[in-house]
Amino acid sequence: MQINKNFQKIESSYLFSGIAKKVREYKAANPDKANSVISLGIGDVTRPLAPACIEAMHKAADEMANAETFRGYPPEYGQDFLLEAILQNDYLARGIALDKSEIFVSDGAKSDCGNIGDIFSNDNVVAVCDPVYPVYVDTNVMSGRAGDKTENGWSNIVYMPCTAENGFLPQIPDCHVDIIYLCFPNNPTGMAATKEQLKPWVDYANREGAVILFDSAYEAFITTPGVPHSIYEVEGAKTCAIEFRSFSKTAGFTGVRCGYTVVPHDLKADGVELNAMWARRQATKFNGVSYITQRAAEACYSSQGKQQIRETIAYYQRNAKTIYEGLKACGFTVYGAVDSPYVWLKTPNGMGSWEFFDLLLEKMQVVGTPGEGFGPSGEGYFRLTAFGSAENTEKAVERIKAYFAK
Ligand code: MLT
Repeated sequence: MQINKNFQKIESSYLFSGIAKKVREYKAANPDKANSVISLGIGDVTRPLAPACIEAMHKAADEMANAETFRGYPPEYGQDFLLEAILQNDYLARGIALDKSEIFVSDGAKSDCGNIGDIFSNDNVVAVCDPVYPVYVDTNVMSGRAGDKTENGWSNIVYMPCTAENGFLPQIPDCHVDIIYLCFPNNPTGMAATKEQLKPWVDYANREGAVILFDSAYEAFITTPGVPHSIYEVEGAKTCAIEFRSFSKTAGFTGVRCGYTVVPHDLKADGVELNAMWARRQATKFNGVSYITQRAAEACYSSQGKQQIRETIAYYQRNAKTIYEGLKACGFTVYGAVDSPYVWLKTPNGMGSWEFFDLLLEKMQVVGTPGEGFGPSGEGYFRLTAFGSAENTEKAVERIKAYFAK
């Protein structure tokens, strides 16, 4: 037996698992402080599910208790009622014409972003923003598409730095690339891209025969007019882009698990529809999302569900503002927060991002995510999330302010 040697090239633990371990160790070594640790690290939600979703889940659970309404394997690409709700609300309502057969319901955007690599050759050149959600890079390393680790990152990956100097927007590569990962509103920087800023990417991809893997997991946080919620709002995107969506951040489904991926029929390579390839991949390796979960997801689109979800998003948006304004007031340089649940800050006095992580944990009992964990250009930056409780968010900001006022 031989193992997949690519796993030996990669860091032994995933970024957020590594951070969770560090926090557990800190708590074990400092039991007197363990209870006061506030996590604004991983983007995990804390507000309960919308009552409309809970009600739908109860009802669906009752259906599972009767032979007449019991359901076995779900349809592999999603229940028709959910596909219809997604199509109507997330696309047709925004003037985007799609067909239900272009939507694939899944257990979340992370899985799909990772699994999509199955349909692409290992010879493709991949481009990622830097900093970047680590799943895009790690999954390419696992499949052998990333090459070898060098001082400047992975040898076959084109890094597109996103820093304060370029307004956190990647520059179009001056070479040919095949697969481009874009995430807007961005994780981790919290910055959004307008339609005008995305159009050149769509044009580049169509010209080069490249595919854009567009992660719009954070679209529900958009407040700025002109910022598209879907890549398909940009003309020409249907022939070059796959879109990933999630109910995790939109509706608090991190523990429920549901998302979806859109692969338009117009997107072809070598004369083959990528839609057919993804359908084949999913039918073989994925067994669908539970009926109860899909009913909960459908309930997000009811008028009550929409209202309740909006209130929760507004709650997190207030947290984002609390962090952004609080840190700004005490002299930090801060970004993001406006169209995103993430605040991206410059570490003070040129401090390393892991050094700042340790300082925050040890002196203030606040957990965040070091920018370096998202890529080389993340060094010198730090991410805080707005997904905590309002009370903890305020407390964390007060602690940071008190420490740095000294
Ligand atoms: C994050 O903190 O970046 C996200 O929670 C990760 C994820 O959604 O998988």
